Formats: sequence, structure tokens, C-alpha cells
Amino acid sequence: MICLGIEGTAHTCGVGIVDENANILANELDMYRPERGGIHPREAANHHSEVVVTLINRAVASAGIQLRDVDVVCFSQGPGLGPCLRTVATAARALAMSLDRPIVGVNHCIAHLEVGVAKTECIDPVLLYASGGNTQVISFTNGRFRIFGETLDIGIGNMFDKLGRELGLGYYAGPKIEKLALEGDKLLELPYSVKGMDLAFSGIMTAAMAHRSRGERLEDICFSVQETCFAMLSEVTERAMAHIEKSEVLLGGGVVQNKRLRAMVAQMAHDRGGEMYVPEPKLCIDNGAMIAWTGMIMHRAGVRMKVEDTKVDQRFRTDEVEVTWR
Ligand code: FE2
Repeated sequence: MICLGIEGTAHTCGVGIVDENANILANELDMYRPERGGIHPREAANHHSEVVVTLINRAVASAGIQLRDVDVVCFSQGPGLGPCLRTVATAARALAMSLDRPIVGVNHCIAHLEVGVAKTECIDPVLLYASGGNTQVISFTNGRFRIFGETLDIGIGNMFDKLGRELGLGYYAGPKIEKLALEGDKLLELPYSVKGMDLAFSGIMTAAMAHRSRGERLEDICFSVQETCFAMLSEVTERAMAHIEKSEVLLGGGVVQNKRLRAMVAQMAHDRGGEMYVPEPKLCIDNGAMIAWTGMIMHRAGVRMKVEDTKVDQRFRTDEVEVTWR
């Protein structure tokens, strides 16, 4: 069986093709890059509509198959930006109908977890999902994927990008912040915003900017922001692991490319006698292969959707999904 998955919850439009053994036959993507400011949902959707057909053709070609070899068409049904979700859902419906194949809508957050399980050695992990739009700690327990902790305001990557813009570092500031942080050594006071099991990041950005206007070094600001935010993420992840007695932690999302975050989470896991797992970079960021693979295991477990079931959901909650494939 061959599944084609289309991802398009935010700035990335991706098309992946997988087989039933989780071999990734193709994983093509194209990212919308705003000229200035953050993601404009309508512009990102326009980007996706312009590139999605090319990406499908490129994926089919690099998988060495024909479009008619695709058995199931999958797409990211949510959560995400409405215009982006609607654009890729329309593309997926059109493709499924024209090929006369089943269609499966996939929860984007669950896809990050399932592809990690398929492509690393972990079996039953707690997922720390840290990206631009999302920051969640998720695990499968009592028949559902449950959110143990999440951001109450913005995703951590979103905060890094906003901070980067304010500090004049440009868009996709994460790698630049990481580099500057290596030269920092003074831990500035920032709000450590862990509320129960949830997190908040916008106050940290405001406090960081206040440090800047008091003349603190850029390097120390980046260092302090990383130390504070990553300690918060590690704490919530550790408490989730302790609560449900799991020893594996899986990383997902663009922010987990950060080496300092990995080191902190790996240390935490190690101290608990556990292990950290990280998929290859192209599977950590938003991509079509994770949608294709999750759609594959859902379809294999008997999930069937009519076109009317494929309505997108901007606030699609992880724990809403009825899990029949585990
Ligand atoms: Fe994502």
C-alpha cells in the first residue's frame, strides 16, 4: 500500500509518500517566507496553492511511481491556520476524487508523534513538540493521545521569531539566537512561566526586550532566553513522564533542532534512567511524510472518511481523535 500525504498547517507545504513499512519514498516541501513580519495566513495559503501541484508531481517522480499507484490520499486536517488548512484539504479532496481513492484527514500533532515512533527506536514515548505555532507535551494513555502540558499563549518558535525581529536578527531567528547564546554567560532574570503543567512565553519576550533597552548584551539575552525556556520545557516534560511512568521522550517540531534544548532534555531523560529520541531533521519539521504515514496506519486500522468528514479544524485537539490503530 502506498499513501500520499499533504501537509499545510502553517508556513510549510509538503508532500510525502510512504509505503506500509514506513519507508519514505518521497518527502518534498516548500516553505513560505514572508518578506517582513510573521506569517500572513492568506499569503501562506496562496503560496501553498501555487506550489502544491508541483510538489505532488515532484514527490511522485522522486518516489519512482505513477500517481495511479497511490492507494490513499492523506492531508493535515488541523490544528493550524484556516486558509492554509482549507487550501491543502481542497487539493487532497481533488486528488482523492480524481484518482477515486480514499481520503484520510490527519491530526498534525499526532503525526509528529507517529512518525517519530516509526522512524526512531522509541516505542511509547512522551512527545515534546516544540515548533513555531505549537508547544505541547503529548503522550498516548488510556486510549487517547493526551496533552499533558501546552503553551497558554504563543508557540516557543513563534516567540523566538518575534524576539529575533525585535532584536534585528530577521525571520527564522532560532538558529541565530542559538549561535549568539553560545557567547552568553550571564543569566538574566526572566519570568519562569510554568503554570501547573502549562507554559507561557510572551512575558519572557517582553522581559527580554526590557533587558535589551537597559543595555544588556545580545548574547546574554539569547543565552538567558534559551536557558529559561528550555528549562521550562524540560520540567513539564519530566513531570509528564513521571506522572504516566514513561521513560522515553521523543522530540518533534522545528525548535528541537536546537542543540541546547536537546542537551537539556537528554540530561533530564538520562537522570530518570530514560532515553531521548530525535527523528532526522526533515521529519522533525512539518512535512508530508508524517501525514502520509499517520494516514497509512489510520487507514490500515479501518478509519474511513466521507468527503463531509474532511472539514478542516483550526483548533483540532489531539485528544479529540478516536484512536483505533494502537
Ligand atoms: Fe508541526
